[in-house]
Amino acid sequence: MKRSEKQFAVITGASMGLGKSFAIELAGKRMNLVLVSLPGQDLPALAGELRERFGVETHYYETDLSVTGNVMDLAAWINNHFRVNLLVNNAGLGGSRSFKEAPAGYINNIVQINVMATSLLTHQLLPNLMEQSRSYILNVSSLAAFTPMGYKTVYPATKAFVRSFSRSLNAELKDSNVFVTVVTPGAMKTSQEITSRIEKQGWLGRLSLLDPDQVARKSIERMFRRDPEITLNPISWLFLNLTPLWIKLPLMTRAIRREVA
Ligand SMILES: NC(=O)c1ccc[n+]([C@@H]2O[C@H](COP(=O)([O-])OP(=O)(O)OC[C@H]3O[C@@H](n4cnc5c(N)ncnc54)[C@H](OP(=O)(O)O)[C@@H]3O)[C@@H](O)[C@H]2O)c1
Repeated sequence: MKRSEKQFAVITGASMGLGKSFAIELAGKRMNLVLVSLPGQDLPALAGELRERFGVETHYYETDLSVTGNVMDLAAWINNHFRVNLLVNNAGLGGSRSFKEAPAGYINNIVQINVMATSLLTHQLLPNLMEQSRSYILNVSSLAAFTPMGYKTVYPATKAFVRSFSRSLNAELKDSNVFVTVVTPGAMKTSQEITSRIEKQGWLGRLSLLDPDQVARKSIERMFRRDPEITLNPISWLFLNLTPLWIKLPLMTRAIRREVA
């Protein structure tokens, strides 16, 4: 297959949850798609469904993004076959566990997917994005970027990385044709596991609850309006930014501990 003349949006973690909502939203805007997910997530069926429903060109690539070599192989495959004018770094993992009791693989997966895959895929696709007349990178962070919290511990640190990385890269690319934005959504009921975690958090979890389809729609709309940081929960955002650490850290830690118990 030789390199297509068409332009494509690349979405990681596209098989379900927010990633699937991004795929539907972008297909609805008649953008051609390269969908990426773990193997065995019915990605070929989704690619076919979006092709039929919206008449866009769709391709898919199944891989485990926690392995550095896989991210490099994915980037090489994309660069060989497609012109990319939008990269959505959506794949991301979280969870609530005691840090001491969590297996090493759990810690490693969160860091590799949220930090390594996001920054390395961006780095490898940047020359491709720069070749197009106008391009965008949309990184998915979280409200968790605004506060440390026990029993999540690694996750908020990685989402603070995603936010800081995105703002820095956007500043660095200010005079280029590539615009970088970051979205910091609150909780979304994207899977059974996440839904039961949110419900155990009580009022704090429910306070920031969002619908993934709306998050995708508003994020894409504001990205095209060149908003460098997209906040979708203004009240929670204000609370997390105005409340001193000595108050919010024990409060959040107590709420998350309820999920682990
Ligand atoms: N749900 C929430 O409450 C919430 C709140 C704030 C921010 N976020 C962020 O929003 C993004 C999407 O979250 P979600 O809730 O929709 O997803 P999710 O249900 O938590 O699933 C995890 C995501 O990471 C991908 N993924 C997991 N392990 C992977 C691996 N080894 N290799 C490749 N991809 C892997 C999954 O994609 P595939 O299954 O398609 O491979 C999926 O997109 C994440 O960055 C998350 O941190 C979520």
